[in-house]
Amino acid sequence: MSKVDRPRRTSYDVVFAVEQDNAYANLALPRALGEAGLSGNDAAFATELTYGTLRWQGVLDEVIAVAARRDVGALDAPVRAVLRLGAYQLLHMRVPAHAAVHSSVELAREVAGPRVVGFANAVLRAIGRQSWAGWVDRLAPEDDLRRIALANGYPLWLAAALADALGGNLTELAIALGEDRPVTHLVARPGRLSRDELLAQAGPGAEAGPWSPLAVRMTSGGDPGALPAVRTGRAAVQDEGSQLVALALARAAVDIPDRWWADLCAGPGGKAAVLHGLLPAGTGLLAADLHPHRARLVRESLRGDAAAVVVADSTRPAWRPGAFSRVLLDVPCTGLGALRRRPEVRWRRQPDDADRLHGLQVQLLSQALDATAPGGVVVYATCSPHLRETRDVVDAVAAGRVDVQLEDARPLLPGVPDLGPGPHAQLWPHRHGTDAMYLAVMRRLPDSPAPSA
Ligand SMILES: C[S@@+](CC[C@H](N)C(=O)[O-])C[C@H]1O[C@@H](n2cnc3c(N)ncnc32)[C@H](O)[C@@H]1O
Repeated sequence: MSKVDRPRRTSYDVVFAVEQDNAYANLALPRALGEAGLSGNDAAFATELTYGTLRWQGVLDEVIAVAARRDVGALDAPVRAVLRLGAYQLLHMRVPAHAAVHSSVELAREVAGPRVVGFANAVLRAIGRQSWAGWVDRLAPEDDLRRIALANGYPLWLAAALADALGGNLTELAIALGEDRPVTHLVARPGRLSRDELLAQAGPGAEAGPWSPLAVRMTSGGDPGALPAVRTGRAAVQDEGSQLVALALARAAVDIPDRWWADLCAGPGGKAAVLHGLLPAGTGLLAADLHPHRARLVRESLRGDAAAVVVADSTRPAWRPGAFSRVLLDVPCTGLGALRRRPEVRWRRQPDDADRLHGLQVQLLSQALDATAPGGVVVYATCSPHLRETRDVVDAVAAGRVDVQLEDARPLLPGVPDLGPGPHAQLWPHRHGTDAMYLAVMRRLPDSPAPSA
């Protein structure tokens, strides 16, 4: 009979799988909770322990390294995972120290054998001798940026990149990094359900989103999958920032015939489904994705709405130049704007990831502009505020083309404050309660010649 309680064992299994198998916590945890039959307080404990450990992992590793007097990379993977879970309970949860140490030692015995018990016990006791604030003082030198990164559980390179995107304002950076309460947002799919109907279904704990007329925020939690509107595809889980991106494309003024819209990086199809509901009569939607399984998800997301869903490489277009009046280009990116929902991502990403994506993003944007009719618009979007994949991409492409004009994106998000100095628009969790979505609006000038096919 195991001496380890099920919630802690479940957290261990997920934390271990995230490191060893590159599992995604937001998929692995619900599965593991179901398999372990956990619900109520036990599920809540396992969820906090799992997400918290993953979110703070790199910083916990610094603490463990000091307490163990060795680099965490030198530890066996099971021991490393146990110590991270134990350190998180000691420093960030209201678990009594003796319970955190004892349960972690038993977990170490179960997953790594009796020989590690003494070591795990000694390391965890050393960690528990100081509070989290004490550890921050001990580990962080005077450097402000490093201290903010460490105190908020961020890699230094990422804190630096976010500071750049915030114009170097370290006071705001500290607020931004401290913001990590993910609230589930729903979209009432236009033409299928009104927001009021969705609000009525979502119950008293739900609120209308402040920025998107389609948004409902489940501020008191709850299972969105239990709502009939979500089950029947009349509503879906979608961050309010993503809704604003789709709405911005539909709101842009174009004075050319609006026959075809395109979503050229469409998978899994959240924005495509909203765009479909916003199409004027007589207008079609083409939704393209490079990967067949992502294109399949687009079809599922559209739930029977008629659209041309194609598997295509949007850097080598299969459509004619100037084919579309409006193009959404929601490029593959680092996803650094959705860290609240993916706790492990900050430690998985590498400093040069944004650089590596930059070239593809430039290529996709150039092709999207070619695919847009003169007078039409492209909305370029990322779920990342990293300047290398936002402003740098848009400015580089705009600088190289006389047939394109960068327009102010902010008026397309009416009522949304603090979007930055423009013409780019940047949403932030701490300012808007959305993911950190970025968008830019580019117009093909009306008298520009069609690019050669
Ligand atoms: C950020 S996601 C798009 C999210 C989507 N707009 C939504 O709201 O559900 C980027 C997508 O671009 C696709 N992609 C990557 N490279 C591509 C390419 N060369 N051509 C077309 N799609 C591509 C990826 O497969 C991925 O599904």
